[in-house]
Amino acid sequence: MRALLGSAIEAHRGGQLDTAEMLYRRTLQMQAGQADALHFLGVLCHQRSRSDEGIRLIRMALRATPQHADAHNNLGNIHKETGNLVEAETCYRSALACNAQQHDALSNLALVLEARQRPDEAFEAYAALLAQAPQLARAHYLMGMYLRSHVRTIEDVEQAVVCFRNAVRCDGANVRALDALGVALYMLGRRDEAIGVYRDWLVREPSNPVPRHMLAACGGETAPPRADDDYVRNVFDGFAESFDEQLLKNLDYRAPRILVDALNAVLDPPAGVLDVLDAGCGTGLCGPLIRPHARRLGGVDLSGGMVEKARQRGGYDELVVAELTAYLQANPGAWDVVLSADTLVYFGDLLPILSAAHATLRPGGWVAFTLEAMEGDGDRVELSSSGRYRHTRRHVERVLAAVGFGRVNIATSSLRKEVGKPVAGWVVLARRRPPGSE
Ligand SMILES: C[S@@+](CC[C@H](N)C(=O)[O-])C[C@H]1O[C@@H](n2cnc3c(N)ncnc32)[C@H](O)[C@@H]1O
Repeated sequence: MRALLGSAIEAHRGGQLDTAEMLYRRTLQMQAGQADALHFLGVLCHQRSRSDEGIRLIRMALRATPQHADAHNNLGNIHKETGNLVEAETCYRSALACNAQQHDALSNLALVLEARQRPDEAFEAYAALLAQAPQLARAHYLMGMYLRSHVRTIEDVEQAVVCFRNAVRCDGANVRALDALGVALYMLGRRDEAIGVYRDWLVREPSNPVPRHMLAACGGETAPPRADDDYVRNVFDGFAESFDEQLLKNLDYRAPRILVDALNAVLDPPAGVLDVLDAGCGTGLCGPLIRPHARRLGGVDLSGGMVEKARQRGGYDELVVAELTAYLQANPGAWDVVLSADTLVYFGDLLPILSAAHATLRPGGWVAFTLEAMEGDGDRVELSSSGRYRHTRRHVERVLAAVGFGRVNIATSSLRKEVGKPVAGWVVLARRRPPGSE
């Protein structure tokens, strides 16, 4: 029975989920109530989107072995990932009551406290983790991220830099820390040091598109006309994994709501009659908001990881993994509405993408998108230190006019917060001229 369980765990670790599930079940047939088999089968069920079954199985395991810290921690993870933060917190605390040195449970508890808007308690948990595990790169990294996202004074960012440097010292392969370090340095205006970090990262990983893009964002190389496909895939496939965590932390992210409100003001009341494309759909946050207008709702995104999340969220009639410009160009006259929240910020030159958006719309159709605002009267675009582009109002107006859009409305709004400060954005609506007027 031990050998069978060992094979199940090996298959599970190797990603052979069918085999692992079958072996866990055979183990349980031989010994009903075997705690490890129940526990790991529960984790596997969650991985296969059967979270309720996973929770039930891990609870059974915990009835058999109530002092199983890892099982409490994994049960907490399922609750966290399914949005039940209250239960998640309870589970992490139970794990720590079984084993106060369970580093994963302590870092998870800190993340959940932060997500539950209890920053002081979260800080204490991060500090306890650092005190417990000063050689753990993740402990330094998490403290740095906490300090960077709860900036009160410039010293917090300086302290975050120290944390990220410590994380890299503990684990030279921790490129997330290098990434975070580069951003923190740029925030402090230490541009040359940031450029140094990205160059160092490129030496470690010469083919990684992220440091290449960020080097350009810091002015260390010429900016490309839009973010490279590999960069977008790399960043967002990684982001999809931690999406729940990030979303919970960034409660101020409002672009989908703002965009759909703007569309509601120009469209007829929702009647489920329009063909709507969510362009750069990501994990599908716009889907449920725009759905009442849609007869057919499509989503397209370059990141397979993000699209998979949108698929799990549901509500779309079709989801496609593709580069946006090429996809729009390949589908002329296909949509009544194209909306794009926080996606054209990865496009510097707006002409190709907005020409393609114009062509994919039916006459009279609307494109709606958000951009990060660049102040000033000129016609300008810049790749900013965040890795996203910012555009002046005049630039947006000129491109929309050049492409041939008729009615254009550009409003200002704060789309989300970055480093505690609102990020100013443009909320743009543009209409392809109605039939007979083109
Ligand atoms: C910040 S997310 C926004 C996602 C979603 N619209 C939302 O508001 O939650 C930006 C998305 O744009 C996608 N994206 C960026 N450049 C793209 C391109 N050239 N083609 C297709 N998708 C792209 C990314 O993969 C990512 O999912």
